[in-house]
Amino acid sequence: MTIDVSVIPAPRRLESAGESGPFSGDVRTSVDPSLPPEAYRLTVAADGAEIVGGDEAGVFWGRQTLRQLRGPDAFRRAPIAREPAAVPYVTIEDEPRFAWRGFMLDVARHFLPKDDVLRYIDLLAVHKLNVLHLHLTDDQGWRVEIERYPRLTEVGAWRRRTRRGWGDPAVWDERPHGGFYTRDDLREIVAYAAERHIAVVPEIDFPGHAQAAIAAYPELGNTDVVDTAALEVKTDWGINPNVLAPTDAVLRFYEGVLEEVLEVFPGEFVHIGGDECVKDQWRASPTAQARIRELKLKDEDELQSWMIRHFGRWLAARGRRLIGWDEILEGGLAEGAAVACWRWYRGGIAAAEAGHDVVMCPQQEVYLDHVQDDGDQEPVPFGWVHTLEDVYRFEPVPPRLAGTPHADRVIGTQANLWSEATEDRRRVDYQVFPRLVAFAEVAWSRLPGPDERDFAGFERRMNAAHYARLDALGVGYRPPSGPYPWQRRPGIPGRMHDKPRRTWHMA
Ligand code: ACM
Repeated sequence: MTIDVSVIPAPRRLESAGESGPFSGDVRTSVDPSLPPEAYRLTVAADGAEIVGGDEAGVFWGRQTLRQLRGPDAFRRAPIAREPAAVPYVTIEDEPRFAWRGFMLDVARHFLPKDDVLRYIDLLAVHKLNVLHLHLTDDQGWRVEIERYPRLTEVGAWRRRTRRGWGDPAVWDERPHGGFYTRDDLREIVAYAAERHIAVVPEIDFPGHAQAAIAAYPELGNTDVVDTAALEVKTDWGINPNVLAPTDAVLRFYEGVLEEVLEVFPGEFVHIGGDECVKDQWRASPTAQARIRELKLKDEDELQSWMIRHFGRWLAARGRRLIGWDEILEGGLAEGAAVACWRWYRGGIAAAEAGHDVVMCPQQEVYLDHVQDDGDQEPVPFGWVHTLEDVYRFEPVPPRLAGTPHADRVIGTQANLWSEATEDRRRVDYQVFPRLVAFAEVAWSRLPGPDERDFAGFERRMNAAHYARLDALGVGYRPPSGPYPWQRRPGIPGRMHDKPRRTWHMA
């Protein structure tokens, strides 16, 4: 007999005799390498639980499921004295659909203090997500201490003021904003995540989105086109023409940055950004044009590609793999590099067909900075409306790849939170939850196609148990009925995308 015990993400197989009762608290664990990576088998009975994992990660995910079975109070930081919750006696066999189940925090646009990052690692673990991608650098801030280039954080981590929303005329918060993680803070974050079987992927974004670095070291910019010494850490949002110069000196500088990044982040993947690099300055720059001629390149896209390929090889020589946003495909990509596809399915399809691994994170589906309802009380409405149901019906494998050998190139999926309009943890919680819960089920569970998914069943499990778990964890999620007064942001205008959102049917 199968009973609904409100496990989220939904396990592959759950068997129950329909019984529940007291639980001794004993947990026996072991590893059986004949099970797939991260898989587990969990048996719960009156005398305790047994978890057999395919590896230690599998055992860990099994523990997360057991915690859910023990009731919402199991998510408090300490036990509270009450009758122990009745636990359903079940057998669960479970394994993830995708190896990369990611979440990106943009800590560049608004700095998120270390404790908040550690808390997010706990929240990812609860939902069996296993990659935390930290967007550490952008035009509006540089958040990682680099010892050999101290001005990156002395100057680049701070901005004079901050635009609030996207209104016209602009609304400003005139207080300076900033912050950065020391190398030891980041080591702590990495170690804390590793204890939870979560990999931290650092992103150093270049050659675009690099104005904070140029503000710190003006020689990194296109000095033959603009007075880069006059540039400050950007206070406003949007796509920015001030990009790195394609010179050897800039390559050496970023090698120096990445050498220190590799010392702190031991994981396989290093994200080098590569998105939204406006080529206007390269078109105007005699230095950039000379470089194009010297390297016999076709155009500025190939110039970017030359920089990215350089770092693809540089990372490979150090046993690491490059991942970047899907623009890195333009002009060709080094072998072994992976692509984070954010512009609908297109880049992911092209990358997979060209033999590159792909992480699907299209902005049309899983950008959690986008608004989650079309009501007029939503705080700082931005992007397209992605409701909880929309996220639940997101399918990471593009229909065109499904059933082909290229589908295996989709190694995973990721939800991204850009932080222009999320200035603190409360705002982050509101944007991320409950949608990350739906996303976690998409990433872990083998759900049917988007139209066949049982969203009503997911909502039932949310209402029966998972909102209570989030309450116990202290997550400031968006209530199904809409924002609480303190979750609104009256007077801060947003900016909705005007083109209709293309849905999965139209891939
Ligand atoms: C991106 O959203 N610019 C990757």
